[in-house]
Amino acid sequence: MAATKSPVFLPLVPTIATLLVLAAAASSFAAGESQTSFATKKQPMTMKKAKLTHLHFYWSNIRSGPEATAQIVAPILNNATFYGTVALNDDTLTLGPNPDNSTSVGKARGLYHFPSNTTALVYEMVYNFAFTYGDYNGSSISLLGSVFPTSGTANELSVAGGTGVFRFARGYAVLNFFSFDPIRTLVVNELDVYVSHY
Ligand SMILES: *[C@@H]1O[C@H](CO)[C@@H](O)[C@H](O)[C@H]1NC(C)=O
Ligand SMILES: *[C@@H]1O[C@H](CO)[C@@H](O)[C@H](O)[C@H]1NC(C)=O
Ligand SMILES: *[C@@H]1O[C@H](CO)[C@@H](O)[C@H](O)[C@H]1NC(C)=O
Ligand SMILES: *[C@@H]1O[C@H](CO)[C@@H](O)[C@H](O)[C@H]1NC(C)=O
Repeated sequence: MAATKSPVFLPLVPTIATLLVLAAAASSFAAGESQTSFATKKQPMTMKKAKLTHLHFYWSNIRSGPEATAQIVAPILNNATFYGTVALNDDTLTLGPNPDNSTSVGKARGLYHFPSNTTALVYEMVYNFAFTYGDYNGSSISLLGSVFPTSGTANELSVAGGTGVFRFARGYAVLNFFSFDPIRTLVVNELDVYVSHY
């Protein structure tokens, strides 16, 4: 028989072979386990109206020394761009810009890394901001994005999600450099987070 181009719908027609494969897959579920123990559809979504919350606080990161909140875990491969650096962080969040005497609102935990060997001083951050203040105690938001610390302009990060009161969160955060203390290697950034949630 001459070889002909298969019509595109052919793979959708179940053959004895594919039915046998499906039967084997179905019988391979362990007792008590099933597709519905893994995922059930709960519909319709009964959500309240979305609201927008604006959070304003300061984020302090100490790069080195006895007070360090950052720990470099992968080495700098290029001193001009900081390429290669990966730092793990456990940073303080406060209402005001002075972390020594301002009310704590939570912790920022996550990592930043310098992914470019050619563009100076760009870092990517992957962070979870866990709040411990007021109505937001126990809730968190996840922030992702690029920071250009020497650009002199505001950096925008995405709110990738949230927990607690911030379930189903989305939004963005504007990060502005506030101050740098070279003796303590203390960097303070101001954050305005605009988060939509239910
Ligand atoms: C970066 O600078 C430090 C300190 O001067 C030096 O020890 C290190 O070898 C340099 N790293 C590279 C990759 O050039
Ligand atoms: C924190 O300390 C700074 C510097 O000493 C001072 O200017 C500021 O008013 C203080 N803030 C609070 C909230 O106490
Ligand atoms: C990074 O850039 C430096 C300087 O241009 C170069 O010597 C080095 O080989 C580069 N490293 C990588 C991994 O590309
Ligand atoms: C936040 O919640 C925890 C756990 O419920 C509680 O122990 C803590 O005192 C609360 N903190 C504030 C500042 O309300």
